[in-house]
Amino acid sequence: MPATILIADDHESSLAGLEGLLSLEGYTVVTARDGEMALAEFQRVQPDLLLLDVNMPKLHGTEVCRRIKDNPETMLVPVVLITALTATQDRVAGIEAGADDFLNKPVQREPLIARVRSLLRLKTFTDELERAEAVLFALARSIEGKDPYTQGHCERLADYSARLGEHMGLPAEEIKALRRAGIVHDIGKVAVPDSILLKPTRLTRSEQMIVRLHPVVGERICASLKSFQLVLPIIRHHHEKMDGSGYPDGLKGEQIPLTARVLQIVDVYDALSTQRPYKTALSTAAVLSVMENEVKKGWWDSKVWAAFEDLIRADLIRADEGEAQPKTLAAAAAG
Ligand SMILES: [Fe+2]
Repeated sequence: MPATILIADDHESSLAGLEGLLSLEGYTVVTARDGEMALAEFQRVQPDLLLLDVNMPKLHGTEVCRRIKDNPETMLVPVVLITALTATQDRVAGIEAGADDFLNKPVQREPLIARVRSLLRLKTFTDELERAEAVLFALARSIEGKDPYTQGHCERLADYSARLGEHMGLPAEEIKALRRAGIVHDIGKVAVPDSILLKPTRLTRSEQMIVRLHPVVGERICASLKSFQLVLPIIRHHHEKMDGSGYPDGLKGEQIPLTARVLQIVDVYDALSTQRPYKTALSTAAVLSVMENEVKKGWWDSKVWAAFEDLIRADLIRADEGEAQPKTLAAAAAG
């Protein structure tokens, strides 16, 4: 499949020139004559690369670029801005908007083709990486899907762990890792037989030992993905406890990575809030009380717990006031 390139320029002659050059190279070319049309065509054709003139009617190329780069689902699509050689301000604004590269007007064939080839090569790598991630996410969701009692658990965990991470001021890459870990943290359960995974009664000691392998198995499954390096410690350590009584490594206190401590609080909360084969769902107040006791027992990090309680209580207040809520755990518990 030839790559698809979207070119947006309000000057008919420049647009035709670029279209001609890239079509000759075998690319599929789609054109737009202003910024709004560029965004609409971007949604419609999902191109592999964008070439945007900076000065366009309705929406500047820089703003089109910013909107694409601000969206996590489209941020990896390369964007090249076309600017006048002397327009330093446009370049600065373009860099701030996340542009991947620049071309000077009038656009010459050699630098155009060189940039297009190099950015499309990069896009192929990121597409492959996304496919690998998509396979892992699909596997994780299929494991979750086996058990009707855990439906939606991964999505809630991903959303709420990321919110808690943001609330605590964690760096962006750790928040991204939390979002991914929310989906894949239990992927190692693929090695647990269904007879144990779906058992409606309490597990025997030997069955528990099999279940307890899932963090290590999960870490191994995801280890080959470089983009998952910050996710691995969360997968491995999401069942550790602050007093060292957790598994698989019996880590204590701050030996447990902070991101794992964040995810485990949300994980435990969600498990207590939702119905399971062997227990009913607890009310939000009851869950808070159980977990407070567990914090006092030395199982969970008291600082992370305090931040989490803040979020839950804020969500509850919003719910009481009838405001539209983000996806909240409190809402899940109520439902
Ligand atoms: Fe787990």
